[in-house]
Amino acid sequence: MKAFLPITLLLAALPALAQDIGVLTAETKKTVLPVVPKVVSAMQEAVAEKGVAGAIPVCKELAPALIKEKRKETGWDIRRVSLKARNAERGTPDLWEARVLADFDIRAANGEKPETLEKSEIVTIDGKPVFRYMKALPVGEVCLKCHGPADGLDAGLKAKLGETYPHDQATGYSQGQIRGALTVKRPL
Ligand code: HEC
Repeated sequence: MKAFLPITLLLAALPALAQDIGVLTAETKKTVLPVVPKVVSAMQEAVAEKGVAGAIPVCKELAPALIKEKRKETGWDIRRVSLKARNAERGTPDLWEARVLADFDIRAANGEKPETLEKSEIVTIDGKPVFRYMKALPVGEVCLKCHGPADGLDAGLKAKLGETYPHDQATGYSQGQIRGALTVKRPL
């Protein structure tokens, strides 16, 4: 009888763990995701008012600043990452993130809507449990102005991007592809 006890305990713990992930995911989304529509609408406004080259600071400064604010507020590690980063210093994914991004591409190719793609997992880092969450950032129409095919980009914009990002990989996208993801790490 004793031998069965650990299994019973394990089975009892499973639903709790699953529920934890659900709760952690919901909490994380509620806290972090409002940043996304804020950046998208700021981008649409900036492009309309200042033109594409004038809108660069939205992706370069406003988005990182809003993310930084959330990091301060929560203490969580929050970033933007991409398999084809423009700013590799900030946007290079770690191994877990790179796998999830590759998986997002596969899931999208299999018909999942890009704007619904997300991933939650409790992983172990340095022996400690960490909740990880990623949310895909799909390419919308406005994004194409700076992340679309390189030969179609505005000449002034191209010159400006070239100055700051000589190793820019973040062009060549089409609408509906996955530009990258918002990624969150919460130590538990
Ligand atoms: C006006 C030009 C412009 C537009 C439009 C634009 N971006 Fe960007 N994007 C940039 C620049 C510049 C960077 C580099 C930011 C930095 O230095 O951290 C960037 C970086 C990013 C990154 C971080 C990863 C990386 O490649 O460095 C993501 C994710 C991203 N953009 C998504 C989007 C999405 C989604 C849209 C549409 C809603 C969009 N961008 C529209 C200029 C733009």
